[in-house]
Amino acid sequence: MSRAVNLKPEDRFIDKILRPTGWRDYIGQEKIKKNLGMILTAAKKRKESADHLLFYGPTGLGKTTLATLVAKEMGVELKITAGPALQRAGELAACLSSLEERDILFIDEVHRLNRSIEEILYPAMESRKLHLVIGKGLGSRMISIDLPAFTLIAATTRPSLLSSPLRSRFGAIFHFDYYSFEDIGIIIQRSAELLGIKLDQEAIVALAGVSRFTPRAANRLLKRVRDFAEVNNLKSINIDIIDEALKFLEIDSLGLESYERRLLETVIKKFNNRPVGVSALSAVLGLDKGTIEEIYEPYLVKIGLLQRTALGRVATEKAYKHLGL
Ligand code: ADE
Repeated sequence: MSRAVNLKPEDRFIDKILRPTGWRDYIGQEKIKKNLGMILTAAKKRKESADHLLFYGPTGLGKTTLATLVAKEMGVELKITAGPALQRAGELAACLSSLEERDILFIDEVHRLNRSIEEILYPAMESRKLHLVIGKGLGSRMISIDLPAFTLIAATTRPSLLSSPLRSRFGAIFHFDYYSFEDIGIIIQRSAELLGIKLDQEAIVALAGVSRFTPRAANRLLKRVRDFAEVNNLKSINIDIIDEALKFLEIDSLGLESYERRLLETVIKKFNNRPVGVSALSAVLGLDKGTIEEIYEPYLVKIGLLQRTALGRVATEKAYKHLGL
């Protein structure tokens, strides 16, 4: 999967250890778990594949993890791919035709599928038919292949970018929200136990406070703090060590990293906090627009430092205070 590509082998191994393997380990998102439970129980009772599901919400909130639990619950294979990996009709066709009865196809970043690929998905989702055009020009013809009853789970950070025909083909749509502070604390405690890290309660609270209400961020920070303790030959981790590690990592009291502070400073200083569009920000910061919109902004908006208005982005008073301006 695209987002795992840059991980060190050690991190990939740790992520595997930390990934919940049962519903009990999957903390929070109670409403989603309850609704999903009902859908899956009913599908199992009818001995049918589950409805197609759409998961949306910010990155790092456990959408892929939940898809793995759905597959486990249904006792089927999960095939994972992502919108940007499906550039040609043949790639999607290969994915679809490798599925067995009731298998689950997970497409991450589904908003990045191009329209021609989306159009192959519609009949596949609706009537389990794969329509392909073979050849070009006058000699081309359409072939139709029957597919097994499968479930598509699609995930996106940008549901508004999905076409309405695609959106309407999902049987259920689930919104993943940021986790509560308490749930992040529980996740950190669980991860620390799994990794054999000694963390006292105060340290857990401190880490939870900078974890952006996001399990992936919490686990990533925990790993970095562990590295810091290891390099400094520290056996257990208390709040002082957390503070030192965060300073070293340039993570502030709200969990912001330097590039996010730079984004806010750019809005305030360079654009005088007049509404600024994402293209202008992208050019000044040298960052891809998608990264700004999907990775940096949602958390800044969530914690009330940035507002997205119809005219553009503006920093809030809280942002000025946080940056000491
Ligand atoms: N990792 C990702 N999502 C998680 C969750 N909800 N609970 C525990 N670990 C997670």
